[in-house]
Amino acid sequence: MTDYATITIDGVEHQFPLVTGSEGERAIDISTLRSTTGVVTLDDGYANTGAAQSAITFIDGDKGILRYRGVPIEDLAKHSSFIETAELLIWGELPDPAQRDRFRQMLSDQAPLHRDMRKHFDGFPSDAHPMAIQSAMINAIQAYDLPEIHISDDPTFERAAAALIAKTRTIAAAAYKSHIGQPMVYPRHDLNYVENFLHMMFSVPYRPYEATPEVAHALNMFLVLHADHEQNCSTSTVRMVASSGANLFTAVSAGVNALWGPLHGGANMAVIDMLEDIRDSGTSPQSYVDKAKDRNSGVRLMGFGHRVYRNFDPRAKILKEAADDLLNKVKVTDPLLDIAREVEAAALADDYFVERKLYPNVDFYSGIILRAIGIPLDMFTVMFAIGRTPGWIAHWKEVHDNAAQRIHRPRQVYVGPTLTEWVPRPDRKDKRKKR
Ligand code: CMC
Repeated sequence: MTDYATITIDGVEHQFPLVTGSEGERAIDISTLRSTTGVVTLDDGYANTGAAQSAITFIDGDKGILRYRGVPIEDLAKHSSFIETAELLIWGELPDPAQRDRFRQMLSDQAPLHRDMRKHFDGFPSDAHPMAIQSAMINAIQAYDLPEIHISDDPTFERAAAALIAKTRTIAAAAYKSHIGQPMVYPRHDLNYVENFLHMMFSVPYRPYEATPEVAHALNMFLVLHADHEQNCSTSTVRMVASSGANLFTAVSAGVNALWGPLHGGANMAVIDMLEDIRDSGTSPQSYVDKAKDRNSGVRLMGFGHRVYRNFDPRAKILKEAADDLLNKVKVTDPLLDIAREVEAAALADDYFVERKLYPNVDFYSGIILRAIGIPLDMFTVMFAIGRTPGWIAHWKEVHDNAAQRIHRPRQVYVGPTLTEWVPRPDRKDKRKKR
């Protein structure tokens, strides 16, 4: 195998080195392309662009493999707590007991919000979307918790990472409480991360909530499965913002906004909307699948398809089993699960989906689990954001620690008007309607 690629432009050959990753992935290093040839690459949606060399998460989309720092997602989902998964992602290895205790203590210390931060919630309308609150409040943490705007040393980073992981959960629960008109609930020192979140969401002053082990286990697994997914839209956003030198909170707040869209994290809400629509309209799952094949219908099968997985999404496989398991254990029947199974079966038997290699993704079954736990629909994408926070932190750190990091600044191929004359105001004609 050669270790370079040859590109011929205007009859002149140029050679570029090939880079090979630790799992054998190959890439052409075109960092000198423009300076040596005068041309740039064009790659809509970055489907063929390696934006970074990263040591955090490995995906083989053809084989359905996902590993955090080399550890298979199946093992983490089965054995690991969300917090030790977070430590694995951020620091590159699973924590030993002393490291684990230390970080647990930091999380506990960082869990409450500064008293003045609580006033921010009053500034939002009561029907504000929780994702808007989540991103604004995460950005606001820095005003209270970061002694300097820029993180310059490891202890400051560790403290900021703990503040972010702990507070993102407190903010989510507080936003929910404020939305439903109940008093905010303080975190408790004696509960683990997941139990504490459920306590802050569902306890009321006169009735404490105690999570059952089944519910706590299912939520822990949900968070572990969402913790990282290499260069997805929101993580690329975090890396982009981090490359300018912006601090952790600002970068992660931007990631929350990128996650919100229905083609990304917002799909977990869209899946439930879709399943409810099928149930309420009496449409058969088969005819919904047929509609999703028609480009002009404006309908997509939400929770299906993935840019990287061209085989099954291993997270969807785990979540499907977990949804079955949880509903059995908590003795809840959810008709949406039956509809989801029928939609999946109809799509997987259909040539359109088979040829395009469209399989259920992480969002297809996750909503069933969140519903069984009692999480309201408009909090679903916030739950994804809580889960993805360790991944965003790990990527921010990777960018921040890279001494050779340059600011992210893509090029473009301009296709707008060429040199155009400035027209005085009275002579202008309205051409917008014709466009
Ligand atoms: N339903 C119907 N057709 C689809 C779907 C779908 N869900 N997904 C892709 N296609 C078709 C698409 O129309 C295209 O067809 P054609 O070749 O005839 O033009 C082909 O499959 C390739 O699709 P694409 O849009 O080029 O694929 P992409 O890699 O740009 O988009 C995706 C990936 C996940 C945005 C897309 O599959 C999608 O919109 N899925 C539904 C939304 C969703 O579930 N998003 C969650 C993604 S996983 C978690 C996360 O990232 O947050």
